[in-house]
Amino acid sequence: MSTENLAAVLEAVGTALKQVNLPIPSPGENELLIHNHAIAANPADYKIRDFPSHLKQFPTVLGSDVCGIVSAVGSGVTKFKVGDRVAGFALVIANNKLEHGAWQTYTILEESATMRIPEWLSYEDGATFPMAFATAAVAYFERLGIARPVPVSSTEAQRSGILVWGASSSTGSAGVQLAKELGFKVFATASPKNHEYLKSLGAYAVVDYRDPDVVSKLAQLAKEAGTPLRLGFDSISEGNSSLLSANTLLASGGQDSKLVLVGPWPTDDEKPAGVDISMTIAAFAFVHHVEMGSWMFNEYLPQAIEEKKIVPAPKVQVVDGGIGAAQEALNIVKAGVSATKIVVRVD
Ligand SMILES: NC(=O)c1ccc[n+]([C@@H]2O[C@H](COP(=O)([O-])OP(=O)(O)OC[C@H]3O[C@@H](n4cnc5c(N)ncnc54)[C@H](OP(=O)(O)O)[C@@H]3O)[C@@H](O)[C@H]2O)c1
Repeated sequence: MSTENLAAVLEAVGTALKQVNLPIPSPGENELLIHNHAIAANPADYKIRDFPSHLKQFPTVLGSDVCGIVSAVGSGVTKFKVGDRVAGFALVIANNKLEHGAWQTYTILEESATMRIPEWLSYEDGATFPMAFATAAVAYFERLGIARPVPVSSTEAQRSGILVWGASSSTGSAGVQLAKELGFKVFATASPKNHEYLKSLGAYAVVDYRDPDVVSKLAQLAKEAGTPLRLGFDSISEGNSSLLSANTLLASGGQDSKLVLVGPWPTDDEKPAGVDISMTIAAFAFVHHVEMGSWMFNEYLPQAIEEKKIVPAPKVQVVDGGIGAAQEALNIVKAGVSATKIVVRVD
């Protein structure tokens, strides 16, 4: 148990993270104090570090994905106790509170945003889940209108086809696994080197997003499978990914399709008519959709992980150096990764 709370603090947009000792915070009502053992890096971390964003309060501590041990519980907490192994979504990104940032030894989590992890799962693997699955859960349950509860067995109900664009990303990998568990036939895009990996996660078909015929190939595969694509998750939302995703839905499922993005519509091209386009925001799972978020993190995911229906993905690349390695971890993500989650081990 560390008696210090070493933090990677961002003092201003466009500056490097700085190591500072902060007081160990106390959890408030419905909050837990986590002693972090692994922290995962996300694109949002470097984007907020390097560019102006909605986060206006500085200094701050960035980061969303933590995994460690419950060190203290606040009043009203009923689902966790001191010593539990957990992963969770740190909510600084939504509430601007520095003690709710991931990149420090101790982080405050909301109980609703915390999930128990099995004894056999490493902290590094546990850190892959929160941001990715919160993003996919808001996308599927709150934006695409996919119904809960999840079928008991994925083989029970092969519902229909769903498109996951950029499926080898962290959010895409979560999107593939969750869709498969929900009973969908998943049609994905990724670089060829990641096709087998995505099939191992449950994708039915994978096409290279750089293929000039990607739209017609996906539409043809969905037709042959008898499962038109009326729902789509663009887990990249950069360049032409959203336009190609929308065009795939139009070519396959036709009008009245629904596409959810992970960012704003990314191109000057007009949004195609006939596709309902919305955007997921991961943190909303614990702000505007708390009942869903709490179901997902407190109930569904821990069970699905224990039963190995949901596995850590993509593969973890550990960066050594503790909290001091936060800056480097963010730089690696910024430079671009392929089917890899960057995780820093912390003591
Ligand atoms: N709205 C939200 O709440 C929310 C939450 C989380 C993330 N995000 C955003 O979602 C995006 C993805 O985040 P992440 O952490 O999942 O990313 P990531 O894991 O860092 O993404 C890397 C992957 O992107 C794929 N890729 C890159 N360009 C692509 C393209 N044009 N088409 C298809 N795939 C492409 C690569 O695939 P290959 O190697 O196979 O080529 C690579 O595996 C980021 O912009 C992030 O800021 C938003």
